[in-house]
Amino acid sequence: MTPAASRRPPARTRPKKGARATAPSGPATIGSVPLAHGPRPHPSLGVGLWGLGRWRPEDEARTKATIGRAVEAGFRWFDTAEVYGAGRSERVLGDVLARTAGGASQAYVVTKVSWEHLRPSQVRASLVNSLERLGRTSVDEYLIHAPDDRVPLSETMPALEALWKEGRIRTIGVSNFGVEELEEAAKHLSEARIAVNQLRYNLFDRDETEPVQEYCRKNQILIEAYSPLARGLLAGRYLDGKRIPAEVKRFAHRLFEPDRLPTILERARRIHELAEEAKVPPASIALHWIESRGAVPIVGASRPEQIDANLAAWGVRPSEAVLAQADALARGDRA
Ligand SMILES: NC(=O)c1ccc[n+]([C@@H]2O[C@H](COP(=O)([O-])OP(=O)(O)OC[C@H]3O[C@@H](n4cnc5c(N)ncnc54)[C@H](OP(=O)(O)O)[C@@H]3O)[C@@H](O)[C@H]2O)c1
Repeated sequence: MTPAASRRPPARTRPKKGARATAPSGPATIGSVPLAHGPRPHPSLGVGLWGLGRWRPEDEARTKATIGRAVEAGFRWFDTAEVYGAGRSERVLGDVLARTAGGASQAYVVTKVSWEHLRPSQVRASLVNSLERLGRTSVDEYLIHAPDDRVPLSETMPALEALWKEGRIRTIGVSNFGVEELEEAAKHLSEARIAVNQLRYNLFDRDETEPVQEYCRKNQILIEAYSPLARGLLAGRYLDGKRIPAEVKRFAHRLFEPDRLPTILERARRIHELAEEAKVPPASIALHWIESRGAVPIVGASRPEQIDANLAAWGVRPSEAVLAQADALARGDRA
């Protein structure tokens, strides 16, 4: 993989004042980016299966329809984890892929070992169980969901590497790792390399991950960006600050906390206005801002229409000038 900065698409000509600040729309297809430490290119946009159905039995049909729609629409990268719905997410994904023509063979499946299962025997057992639920003999990526300082990485990493050598894991990755943890993890791999680090990364959540991004760029570790839409805020939800569900507040990091919310909402509204002026879907700014920084977004969706809307947003690439303005607005600049 080339360093992230050099993967950025060439800058486009700045639009004339008053001109529509939008690059021509492309077809809504999902390409790939090179993956330096993996056997095949990495899809540019993925769909996450964390809260798809909130895992209540009555939501299962909607969840399946959403994943099915994603497969039909051309998503290949599916992000899940053993902890999502206590295994239910992996099972539903496996079922849908098995029933969709070409789904299982074309899919790029990422799952994660829980931070509670990082001892070597637990890692192996977790992977075996995940593969059984997914109905596969291997996964494209196996990630440590988050570090656990009670279990040294000198134990976990060799266990992952053994599974990699057996061919059950095509790529080793981590999630929510800082620089020190990445350095420590790398020390305990002999032939394999850490290929990806999955982080919360969006227009509003980025400054605190700056050092780790730098480390990842230098070491050709691809950043998979979770919560790219800030739980829907960057797709135009909750702009009036009302009716924000408790679970969104709980899982959206600090964005929705009372001390920060008014500022974030003001910035989100300005980004929304920018999208309207540029005649692009707001989500296209959120997703392509990530893409322009060399990372790959994993969007969440809880219904088929959101799959369609997010793919349509991906198909519209805002101009560099619009992305730069959004960047400034998210930082609070008056630009
Ligand atoms: N590694 C980790 O620790 C970690 C942590 C968090 C997430 N993840 C992964 O990253 C994935 C994405 O994270 P996320 O769910 O926080 O991402 P997100 O894309 O920021 O938020 C997804 C939520 O935004 C809303 N939404 C999506 N598309 C929309 C649209 N077009 N218009 C309006 N609202 C829209 C939906 O909310 P409603 O469902 O309420 O409608 C959806 O559930 C997860 O599913 C998971 O796979 C990983």
